[in-house]
Amino acid sequence: MEYRKLAPFPKNFLWGSASAAYQIEGAYQEDGKGRSVWDEFVRIPGKTFKATNGDVAVDHYHRFEEDVALMAKAGLKAYRFSISWPRILPNGKGAINEAGLAFYNRLINELIAHDIEPIVTIYHWDLPQALQDEYGGWESRQIIEDFTNYAGLLFERFGDRVQHWVTLNEQNVFITHGYLTAEHPPAVTDAKRTYQANHMANLANASAIKLFHEKGYQGGIGPSFAYSPTYALNADPANQIAADNAEQLNADLWLDVYAWGRYPKLVMTYLKQNGLAPEITAADRDLLANPLAHPDFMGLNYYQTMTVTTNPLEGGVGLTKQNTSGKKGTSQASGLPGVYKTADNPFMQQTDWDWNIDPEGLRIALRRIESRYGLPVLITENGLGAYDTLAADGQINDDYRIAFLKAHVKAIQEAITDGVTVIGYTTWSFTDLLSWTNGYQKRYGFVYIDRDETDEKELKRYPKDSFYWYQRVIKSNGEII
Ligand code: NOJ
Repeated sequence: MEYRKLAPFPKNFLWGSASAAYQIEGAYQEDGKGRSVWDEFVRIPGKTFKATNGDVAVDHYHRFEEDVALMAKAGLKAYRFSISWPRILPNGKGAINEAGLAFYNRLINELIAHDIEPIVTIYHWDLPQALQDEYGGWESRQIIEDFTNYAGLLFERFGDRVQHWVTLNEQNVFITHGYLTAEHPPAVTDAKRTYQANHMANLANASAIKLFHEKGYQGGIGPSFAYSPTYALNADPANQIAADNAEQLNADLWLDVYAWGRYPKLVMTYLKQNGLAPEITAADRDLLANPLAHPDFMGLNYYQTMTVTTNPLEGGVGLTKQNTSGKKGTSQASGLPGVYKTADNPFMQQTDWDWNIDPEGLRIALRRIESRYGLPVLITENGLGAYDTLAADGQINDDYRIAFLKAHVKAIQEAITDGVTVIGYTTWSFTDLLSWTNGYQKRYGFVYIDRDETDEKELKRYPKDSFYWYQRVIKSNGEII
């Protein structure tokens, strides 16, 4: 039952969809592109579902015009995509690959010609392998300068046409999966190194944002954070503390640094007590605290919430990795002292990959970012990974995706009515794409792409039922959901 009148979506609301270079482009060694850490990682036996890789992906590199035409048909106002660092700088630094820049120039111009705003993600996980080999990638201070130079090059070349820049996509995921749980490259399992690499990523992020602001480019810039708000299993105060611990360790540890340039004190106390704190110099503190290094908006990737309870091992605050990659059971504790336990939430249903379906959690995330940081939010990802079926007549009936997105759009509207400033909503994803370690079976798109793990077929595109639903939502500016 409606208990209040909902505010309308703002007139210039950015209804869109999102993608990432490695997940769609293919052309992994064309036109002078260098290798990324993902090009190498997927070749290690056992790392990905059925040994899938992104060598061809959904061939967006060669079919971007067709894809943009479909975006225009859906009525997208914005399209978020990432730039492949090694396509631009094959060695991560130094010699520029003009052919790589030319590809993104064509893409940006094509989008603008169709009245679709390009939202550019500077880093979506495909680090140049050369930087990993030379100095260990995110673990070295050298990454700060190299990332800043790479970002600066993009600002120079595309800044005249791009209004919204995303610095790092899901730093919390690529760092914890890369250094704590080894699900992503460089497949390390070392908590100390995790927080050290994370600190370097914080500095790189801050340095690129500072450069953007110092040079006075148009538009805004911010990171995208994978935020899964945490519930306590019940009103037991011990569980409430466990939930607060999780919120501080999994969210504040990143968001406070982005927005305010300082680490949350309780988390730092915990890390120090366990010999895990990164080395922070006075110059680091100055950079992080510089207002020019703070974002103009917070990018939010929202998929699910987490519910926790105390861990019988005890020890106060603790850390779990987020369940962002797989089936139930993969979100086990990291092995750190004092870890808390994740628990099933009886109020929620799960997706095909056992992720909690919780639209209200999106409202909670939005409200919390507003009330704690007062920053506008760009929802840079939200969507449903599911098994879809292409029927003989070329239809894809994905009512479950429509229901999922509908509930989340409603939650955004509730949050806007609450007073949160939401700039836009770029769903994950526009076309189906490679789901990193999950291959092609896990589909998120409005557009079905006919390929599987072993057979690329003809990569034909088919709009799903959700495509036409989103078209109506955009056309009515969210009035008809
Ligand atoms: C977030 C990541 O940014 C994206 O690359 C990934 O495919 C989705 N989550 C779904 O897992």
